[in-house]
Amino acid sequence: MGAPTQLTLYSRPILAIETSCDETSAAVVLGHHVCSNVVASQIEMHRKWGGVVPEAAARAHVEAILPVISEALSSAGLSSSEIGAVAVTNRPGLVGALSVGLTAAKAFAYAKGLPMIGVHHLEGHLLSTMAADMPPSFPHTCLIVSGGHTELVDVQAPGDYRIVGQTRDDAAGEAFDKGARLLGLTYPGGRSIQEQARSGNRHRYPLPKGLSGDTIDFSFSGLKTAVLRLTEKEGESLNVADAAASLQEAIVAVLTERAIRAMDRLGSTSLTLVGGVAANLELRTRLRSACDAHGYTFTTPPIDLCTDNAAMIGLAAAYRLAKGECDGWDLDVFPNAEL
Ligand code: KG4
Ligand code: ZN
Repeated sequence: MGAPTQLTLYSRPILAIETSCDETSAAVVLGHHVCSNVVASQIEMHRKWGGVVPEAAARAHVEAILPVISEALSSAGLSSSEIGAVAVTNRPGLVGALSVGLTAAKAFAYAKGLPMIGVHHLEGHLLSTMAADMPPSFPHTCLIVSGGHTELVDVQAPGDYRIVGQTRDDAAGEAFDKGARLLGLTYPGGRSIQEQARSGNRHRYPLPKGLSGDTIDFSFSGLKTAVLRLTEKEGESLNVADAAASLQEAIVAVLTERAIRAMDRLGSTSLTLVGGVAANLELRTRLRSACDAHGYTFTTPPIDLCTDNAAMIGLAAAYRLAKGECDGWDLDVFPNAEL
């Protein structure tokens, strides 16, 4: 392991904006400190459709974005003239949703004559650990688990990332969401599965863990098929709590096993866990104890910084802005983008 990297961070408050999917969020961060982090969730609206409807998401961002920015400033106790820079998620995500956040960021930065910077959503998740009580040093290994991504990343330094393992089909969050839907649980599935699993027996219905052998990749699509077969086989007699606990167990066990294997391969002794699925209490506990057993350090952000939020975008921007990076007024949105 190399020496911990000393991060130089932007010295003025950053207004950060995140609208890549179904949360309208604005935050103010100063260095590693999150001064405010406001999230207006669209979950209730999308629940009736069982998933995110892109057009509806963009419209809801239009309604929420200005009040959310005002609230982020007022909860931070700052006026707009005290902000030093604006950070915004510009990739990847839903094009209409991203465009609302980018337009608001451009307008704010232009009106105040501030530098503006576009941030990759996954880099935001990856550096959300900077707000943990004990931020990780560099290098470290990061497990990113969200609705769209499942990746093991060798993080040498901020901005120096190498994906070493990833899903070959569904993301872990997708496996939770699709499994929950098959079990008749409400959207978004991760939280519903966690709730049901509390009273369930995780060994009742053994489910497949995807790829076998000495791999650090993942495959979750077979899990969804297995849950479908289980519901067909058991019919009315299916115990939903046991099925939820079994599904959670299949996902958590494979994530834990592969994360530790990746660390062994990389010679890494520090693991971070980020992304919406990092809110899962069982996953947090299991990874922490696996790391303890190996003498590795384990860092995960507070739960409100795991699911989508603007604070993580501000944290990721803080070291880029400090290096003098910023974007021009032609900054665009990108639905797909590599980390
Ligand atoms: O990072 P995120 O908020 O949005 C994306 O970037 O995709 O992640 C959302 C995902 C959803 O699939 C949701 O079901 C999952 O995170 N999730 C959870 C929990 N809370 C959210 N999965 C498992 N357990 C949870 N407690
Ligand atoms: Zn996310």
